Amino acid sequence: MNKNGLLIAIEGIDGSGKSTLAKELYDHFCAKNIPAILTKEPGDTPLGKEIRSIVQEQHVAICPKAEYLLFAADRAQHAQEVILPALAQGNIVISDRMGDSSIAYQGYARGLEIDMIKMVNRWALNEYMPNLTIFVHIDPTIARQRCIKRSNHLSAFEKEEELFMRKINDGFCDLYKNRTDVIIINGNQNRESVIQETLSALMPRLDTI
Ligand code: TYD
Repeated sequence: MNKNGLLIAIEGIDGSGKSTLAKELYDHFCAKNIPAILTKEPGDTPLGKEIRSIVQEQHVAICPKAEYLLFAADRAQHAQEVILPALAQGNIVISDRMGDSSIAYQGYARGLEIDMIKMVNRWALNEYMPNLTIFVHIDPTIARQRCIKRSNHLSAFEKEEELFMRKINDGFCDLYKNRTDVIIINGNQNRESVIQETLSALMPRLDTI
C-alpha cells in the first residue's frame, strides 16, 4: 500500500446507504488493525459543522453558486484539518462524500459548470484526488422511501422532487463510466450483500495501489 496513506471516497444519492457502508468499511479496517479514519463532507470540522447546518436547512435563500462555494469551503477546511494530515500519517481515509458530490448535485442537478467545479475541487484538496471511489448505485425511488422512513425531518436536498435525485444519480453514472478508479456497487440489495460485494471488490485492489 502507498506509504502516504490511501484516500477512499464513498458516493451516492441521499438514502443510498453510503454512510452505513462507510462505517462498516471503517470497522473492517479497525478489526484488521489497519490504520484508518472515517470522515465526511460536509461537516467533519468545526467550520464544516456550521456550513452543514446552513446548507442542510437553507433558512435563507442560497443560489446554486453560493451553495457550491459553501461545500467547497467545507472541503478546503476538511482537506487542511483532517484529510491531508491523516494521509501523511499513513492512514486509510474513508470519506463519506467528497468533491464528486458537488459535481453530481451542484453540477448535473443544479446546472453549474462542471469544469469549474472540478477545478475548484482540485484546488480545495491541494490537487490530491481519491485513490479509489466507491459509488453506491441505487434506484432513486427506493432511496427516497428509505429517507422518508428513517427521518421525520428531511434536509433541503431530501425535500427535493424525485426527479432531482434522478438527475444526481444519472450524473454520477455519467461521471463514472469507463473509470478504473471507481467501484460501482448495487445499492438496491440488503445491507449485508452491499457490504460483502464492496469488500470482495475492494480488498484485492488495496495491495495494488
Ligand atoms: P450527507 O452528509 O450525505 O447527508 P446525511 O448525512 O444527512 O444523510 O450530505 C448532506 C447533503 O449535502 C446531501 O443531501 C448531499 C449534499 N451535498 C451536496 O449537494 N454537494 C456536496 O458537495 C456535498 C458534499 C453534499
